[in-house]
Amino acid sequence: MALPLRLAPSLLAADFAHLGDAISAVEAAGGDLLIHVDVMDGSFVPNISFGLPVAEAARRVTALPLDTHLMVVHPERHIETFAAAGVTGLTVHVETCPHLHRVVQQIREAGVRPAVALNPATPAVMVEEILPFVDMVLVMTVNPGYGGQKFMPEMLDKVRRVRDMADARGLAIDIQVDGGVDARTAPLLVSAGANVLVAGTSIFHAPGGPRAGIEAIRQACLAV
Ligand code: DX5
Ligand code: ZN
Repeated sequence: MALPLRLAPSLLAADFAHLGDAISAVEAAGGDLLIHVDVMDGSFVPNISFGLPVAEAARRVTALPLDTHLMVVHPERHIETFAAAGVTGLTVHVETCPHLHRVVQQIREAGVRPAVALNPATPAVMVEEILPFVDMVLVMTVNPGYGGQKFMPEMLDKVRRVRDMADARGLAIDIQVDGGVDARTAPLLVSAGANVLVAGTSIFHAPGGPRAGIEAIRQACLAV
């Protein structure tokens, strides 16, 4: 099922001292963008990034959708506050939610688009039963916790499996990938069935600046 390609620059790779400028720089690229907000708690993942105040600050300076990736234990404790901050999507990890369906419903009831994420070692089948209830599945292409890690090509097959599962059920679900996405890996991911690409390093640390980073990924995907 062909869904529009969307890029989601990850603020984790931006200069936190100039977050507003970083967001303006990606906005300058135009087109269909999401701002990816990586919330890490130092417990589910080894690193602590930032939390609600940064999502609120981002909301004040952009009208772009805020795609919030919760890498935290007990994500159900934070749904309503992030919803009140005006985020557009909330992604919870399958590994953090024994009652995944309940949390997905909670997100939907808060007026936010629910998504579920899979760590590299978590099999695709773990999202099979939740597919009809979510708007997006995130297939991690690195172990979550840090930006700038090496893309895991083994995850391409998992992207294919999730896309096949969704297609077999007639579900037009977004499939997002996150970790090591750049102009080289992006086309591989798109051919495997991904349509929402998170990229931090390859956008914010692009030699020509964020706009050039975005353009390079878009160009690379044109031929797919
Ligand atoms: C990793 C985060 C990613 C990260 C991606 O745990 O979820 O969103 O920012 O960074 P890059 O694109 O640098 O791999
Ligand atoms: Zn992320």
